[in-house]
Amino acid sequence: MAYKILSVVGARPNFMKVAAVCEAIKDYNSNGDAPRVEHILVHTGQHYDANMSDLFFNDLELPKPDLFLGVGSSSHSAQIARVMERFERVLLAEKPDVVVVVGDVNSTVACALVTKKTWCSGGPCDRDFIPKLAHVEAGLRSFDPTMPEEINRIVTDSIADYLFTTEESANENLGAEGIPENKIHFVGNVMIDTLLRYRSKATESAILTDLQLDEGGQVRPYAILTLHRPTNVDDARTFSRIIQSFLDVSRHMQIIFPAHPRTLKQIQQADLGDYFVDHFMDGPEPWDSRVRIRLIPPLGYLDFLQLMSHARVVLTDSGGIQEETTILGVPCITLRNVTERPVTLTHGTNVLVGADPETIIRAFTRVLQSSARLPAPPPLWDGNAAKRIVQILAQAGESVSPQPVPRQPAPPPAI
Ligand code: UD1
Repeated sequence: MAYKILSVVGARPNFMKVAAVCEAIKDYNSNGDAPRVEHILVHTGQHYDANMSDLFFNDLELPKPDLFLGVGSSSHSAQIARVMERFERVLLAEKPDVVVVVGDVNSTVACALVTKKTWCSGGPCDRDFIPKLAHVEAGLRSFDPTMPEEINRIVTDSIADYLFTTEESANENLGAEGIPENKIHFVGNVMIDTLLRYRSKATESAILTDLQLDEGGQVRPYAILTLHRPTNVDDARTFSRIIQSFLDVSRHMQIIFPAHPRTLKQIQQADLGDYFVDHFMDGPEPWDSRVRIRLIPPLGYLDFLQLMSHARVVLTDSGGIQEETTILGVPCITLRNVTERPVTLTHGTNVLVGADPETIIRAFTRVLQSSARLPAPPPLWDGNAAKRIVQILAQAGESVSPQPVPRQPAPPPAI
């Protein structure tokens, strides 16, 4: 019988991670000698707008989900509860050997909990049916308990059977929490697998021309801004102070701001619309060149990758973007006080500035004065993380004890 892997996606940052896993399973199955792996893809529907979900399925050539749970938005607890209730039915029907969850969103923790609880759901407890739980991107810690994602990470890691890590700090964090070493597999970064795979396809995107950033082959300097963390956008005063500092930045170069739906809602509620030229309202052209912060809808994967690749600087509070800019060699100014991805500070282009306007401006000025650099990528961010994951899971399916990837890898090849 084929070994059955069930992967879960829910929110935007999950799609590029699971895309790499899907590709690696396809690859594994195409090897005639290997036993076949059956793969089921479940989408919880935590993100549901076309430009937060469908666009990514198209760009990343993801298969249509086998099951869509349609949970939508609500309070965190209600959202998690809804995913749990619906995912339990899926698990009982599908009975996979292993459930793969990625990252740190609410769908991640909800499906992780269900995976470890469902064997005792209703009726008699079935001890033969406890799927293994694999957590991709395990062990990252911000040590900030007010971040919803931090709770999701800690809970998921504490019950996972396979903890696939992206950087050495994650191995250390898991060790400090008492996770046995044989559960931890340092495999690299699946998000970077996807970036490397699609980097050349992204150059076909017309986004630079569409935004009038490319003039006859000459790309004008611009910054990208992304902002969606509740700590930065939910409080109107904090949000408007941050935006004020971007007005200073925008005297040097225009800022392209693809706004997350949550952020857009805040801009409307806090009446901050005057700071921006609004492509939601005005369409892409013509735009007033005196207003330098350009609010645009969320972009698909390929457009955003192309935009990021040519940016002079990225200002963000996203986790994944800190990693992507590290590989692209684009300076990243992170509007947070802590990062759960410290390798982006030591091996990458990332600096932390919090939400203080003066610190933001100072960091930006330093970027303008510095010349471009492309640091060596972090260990194992080489495009093969998902292959290592599938190899480990499939080997376990053959009842061969998994062989963890060595902790001290050889330096990866330059990209
Ligand atoms: C979620 C993740 C966060 C991740 C982010 C990426 C959690 C706890 N947070 O935050 O870690 O960085 O996704 O985007 O899981 N909305 C829409 N359309 C959508 C999705 C959301 O309009 O397709 C709006 C809704 O008003 C919703 C709000 O955005 O209430 C927030 O969505 P939610 O999924 O709860 O959290 P994110 O802020 O997106």
